Amino acid sequence: MRSHRFFLLLSCGVVALTGCRSASQAPPEPSQAPVPPEALRSVASFSNIEDKQARSVALFREAGRVIAHPRCTNCHPADGRPRQGMEQHAHVPAVAGGADGHGPPGLPCTSCHQATNTPTVGATVASIPGNPKWALAPVEMAWVGRSLGAICEQLKDPKRNGGKDLAALQHHMAKDELVGWGWNPGPGRKPVPGTQAAFGELFQAWVDSGAYCPAP
Ligand code: HEC
Ligand code: HEC
Repeated sequence: MRSHRFFLLLSCGVVALTGCRSASQAPPEPSQAPVPPEALRSVASFSNIEDKQARSVALFREAGRVIAHPRCTNCHPADGRPRQGMEQHAHVPAVAGGADGHGPPGLPCTSCHQATNTPTVGATVASIPGNPKWALAPVEMAWVGRSLGAICEQLKDPKRNGGKDLAALQHHMAKDELVGWGWNPGPGRKPVPGTQAAFGELFQAWVDSGAYCPAP
């Protein structure tokens, strides 16, 4: 089963330009139905927390349901290798981000990952995720295996967040199209909770309340 799946994935890579739709095998088909998202709490629902620091930490914890979600952290590992799925197994086939996160010249991410999600037919995965900016995050932005408190401190550190101040960081969270993929991850994949707009509001409210982090 495993080698069969591996073969299909490889052939998807090789025939990426013509697409995987032509794969002729017919193993049990994964569901193409979108997986419904979970809700995200509104900013207003935190207004009863009077202590500013406690409110700030609570806002970050709610935003952290997105940030620490496998849809995001699968691309933010510490070892240069992307993860797949909710259980974050090693990427099949084995690939590495390489020097610039786009994969080695012979097998760049874009040989399989297109500009949009690509539904598959006859494969054991329902779709190949896609986005114009698809690449692995640099190692200083690694989140896999770190506590929410540690991720929070790292996010605030311009040496580890691509030189961003809090306003630029909020803009990235609320507007970046690759971040936005988390809410539109393609058939067969669970989206991160809420909407990108609601997530941007939570993140802004966290900044406005002093940007306090949970204990590491
Ligand atoms: C396909 C891989 C991929 C996915 C999925 C992804 N990221 Fe990233 N992320 C990157 C790359 C590459 C960079 C560095 C380039 C840039 O800043 O755009 C980055 C940078 C960032 C940064 C700025 C640097 C930092 O760490 O402070 C933030 C914030 C961020 N991502 C948040 C998210 C969130 C939130 C999600 C999920 C909703 C997410 N990312 C999903 C690849 C990914
Ligand atoms: C040979 C084809 C191929 C190459 C090259 C490739 N991928 Fe993938 N990738 C896939 C397929 C197919 C899936 C879907 C598998 C699944 O969902 O189980 C996938 C899924 C992923 C996921 C999982 C998304 C999630 O949240 O579950 C991430 C992250 C990812 N790839 C990142 C990358 C990065 C970064 C690169 C380049 C460094 C890359 N991939 C190169 C084929 C490839």
